[in-house]
Amino acid sequence: MATLKDRIDGLRKTFEESALEAADAKALEELRTAFLGRKRGHVTLLFEDLKSVPAEEKGGAGQLINEFKEFVQGQLRTIGEKLEPGVRYGAGSIRTKSKFAAAGTVVPGTVVHPDLTLPGRKRYVGMRHPLTLFEEEIERIFLGMGFTIEDGPEIETDYYNFESLNFPPHHPARDKWDTLFIKGDLLLRTHTSPVQVRVMERSKPPIRIICPGRVFRRETPDPTHLPMFMQVEGLVIDEGVTFANLKGTLEYFIKALFGEKIKVRFRPSFFPFTEPSAEVDIECLVCSGKDPSCRVCAGTGWKEILGSGMVDPQVLKNVNIDPEKYSGWAFGLGIDRTAMFAFGIPEMRYFYENDLRFLRQFGAK
Ligand code: DAH
Repeated sequence: MATLKDRIDGLRKTFEESALEAADAKALEELRTAFLGRKRGHVTLLFEDLKSVPAEEKGGAGQLINEFKEFVQGQLRTIGEKLEPGVRYGAGSIRTKSKFAAAGTVVPGTVVHPDLTLPGRKRYVGMRHPLTLFEEEIERIFLGMGFTIEDGPEIETDYYNFESLNFPPHHPARDKWDTLFIKGDLLLRTHTSPVQVRVMERSKPPIRIICPGRVFRRETPDPTHLPMFMQVEGLVIDEGVTFANLKGTLEYFIKALFGEKIKVRFRPSFFPFTEPSAEVDIECLVCSGKDPSCRVCAGTGWKEILGSGMVDPQVLKNVNIDPEKYSGWAFGLGIDRTAMFAFGIPEMRYFYENDLRFLRQFGAK
């Protein structure tokens, strides 16, 4: 033990003498290597020799060496800070000099020293997808009218997608919904209407809900068709609900979305789950009906945005709601198509290509 102590005292003296002479960073680095160098540094060698010290003396010897090591590290740091502020010498091989340190302000106590005069780093904040923005706008309007938002599965059974909605098996009306079947009874929902049934099964009237979501059809992609797109379904069930209620609410909604002046028209239509049924058109915002060759409205001046109708009594019976007591209406709107129209986008595919040049036009840059 005495010999180890002598050895350390000797090394300490050598260190102190050399430290006095270390006049620049290079000399200081040499000193660091001589003492703390990972292969042949004096301190490292002391630790090496510790291996052959008898077990009972190991603890004390180790402590002496550690104290010496900390002394050396502390000294290196103090001298280094005087020689070159912002540069750290000492602990092991940590010798960090920020490439900015020479350029400007040094922040004491940090290892990497940023130059505070440099401009900050820009953090890119994500933005909402235009379809999400549009969907949220629709939700906002309906929430304001006291509706709530519901959800349903994208993989559906034949029962919910068709049968409960009054499409008997093999009914020709099924052909209108080009269905992607999965296996057996399972399919990808072709519309959000099955959520109506699921909601009526799990809740009691009065019901006032909307349900936005993805739907799937066997479509060949073109500017206005994709095999996957978005719809929002709406359903109102209560006592004494009439077609006037349907008309008033949908007109209010469309005006809230497109502005007071928009022209709206209701056209008779057919859906197995509503009777009577209506499709709703809005005036063509691209040509206002003035261009017979308009590509958006095909010269008709109108653009269909949703299907709607009074819920068929058979659908109510299917979910054990008494059609003598309750009535209601429903609608289904194509979110992508309506958003294309609202934003003036000629291609539905743009929504799904994730091209930032397109997406950035709708959110924070
Ligand atoms: N599900 C229909 C479709 O995809 C749209 C629709 C029409 C929904 C009438 C409804 C409705 O709720 O009442 O074409």
